[in-house]
Amino acid sequence: MTVLVTGAAGFIGYHVAEALLARGQAVIGLDNLNPYYDVRLKQARLDRLRAKPGFLFYQCDISDRTAVAAVFDRHDEISEIVHLAAQAGVRHSLVDPYSYVQSNVMGHLVMLEAARRLPALRHFVYASTSSVYGANQDLPFRETDRVDTPMSLYAATKRADELMSHAYAHLFGLRQTGLRFFTVYGPWGRPDMAYFSFARAILAGEPITLYDGGRLKRDFTYIDDIVAGVIGCLAHPPHEGVPARVLNIGNHQCEEVRELVALLEQALGRAAIVRSEPRPPMDVEETFADVDAIGALTGFTPSTPLAEGIPRFVAWFRAWNGSS
Ligand SMILES: NC(=O)c1ccc[n+]([C@@H]2O[C@H](COP(=O)([O-])OP(=O)(O)OC[C@H]3O[C@@H](n4cnc5c(N)ncnc54)[C@H](O)[C@@H]3O)[C@@H](O)[C@H]2O)c1
Repeated sequence: MTVLVTGAAGFIGYHVAEALLARGQAVIGLDNLNPYYDVRLKQARLDRLRAKPGFLFYQCDISDRTAVAAVFDRHDEISEIVHLAAQAGVRHSLVDPYSYVQSNVMGHLVMLEAARRLPALRHFVYASTSSVYGANQDLPFRETDRVDTPMSLYAATKRADELMSHAYAHLFGLRQTGLRFFTVYGPWGRPDMAYFSFARAILAGEPITLYDGGRLKRDFTYIDDIVAGVIGCLAHPPHEGVPARVLNIGNHQCEEVRELVALLEQALGRAAIVRSEPRPPMDVEETFADVDAIGALTGFTPSTPLAEGIPRFVAWFRAWNGSS
């Protein structure tokens, strides 16, 4: 079994690749190492993967069809794909919208085109997001809910991926699972996300901005639970008759952002300086995952409460902050 992981130098991709390698599986990593956030963090994740047997890495842009085809031609043994490379981040899609369509729409198409030609491919798992639920008011979010009210271009590109994947499943029998991730956090995390940037600001004695006084709610999901869910899914490709599906993957707990701040303050031993601003238009009020479907399929049971996950993140963050 050879698994191709795109976005392998990214937060989730690094953890998924590491867990697969620990299970003795061969992993091919692919990433363009773009400078959206500190490239040293991507390189440090990559260094750890490279130190393990069974890992091979290609620096490659998934929207470059020639480069991707060259990797796939060399590796027709690929049996599973975990496609996580994307331009992530809701807010940045106002700053650089074109990068979202380039990586998330063109990149997804290139991956689908390459994947459908792989002779041994059993399952293509790709990243979607809770953001596709947009202005949906029915909680918890279920896979059967309508998802046609995106509130950011990021969400719109991820919904486009789900639709493109459905078409490729229908046309070519490409068996796929789209995973709608709900606010993933943990060690080796993403510096642009609130928990990470808050930790940095609190330690530096700088103010943090909370929207609506920190009353927005998120379903915060610890990285180890996500990895277990992704790997569990990989082993359960959809049936040939219904080759495309999407599944929520979240903690099934809805918590206020100010609770996250309180836990960070406790773990860091410092009080935050808080500024409150109104909620920006691309931020949804609340996210909350119904995880019955993934639970029934894989036995997925998230087991890390925020109160445990945040101190683990902070322990890593202190070490990283001190060394970088
Ligand atoms: N972290 C979360 O809370 C969260 C929530 C919902 C969805 N997601 C999705 O999960 C996936 C992984 O997210 P993450 O948090 O690990 O983000 P990340 O930014 O840490 O990882 C993405 C990786 O993809 C690479 N990449 C970006 N564009 C590329 C391209 N065109 N070609 C090749 N590589 C490219 C980046 O260099 C990066 O290393 C993404 O698809 C993201 O949209 C994440």
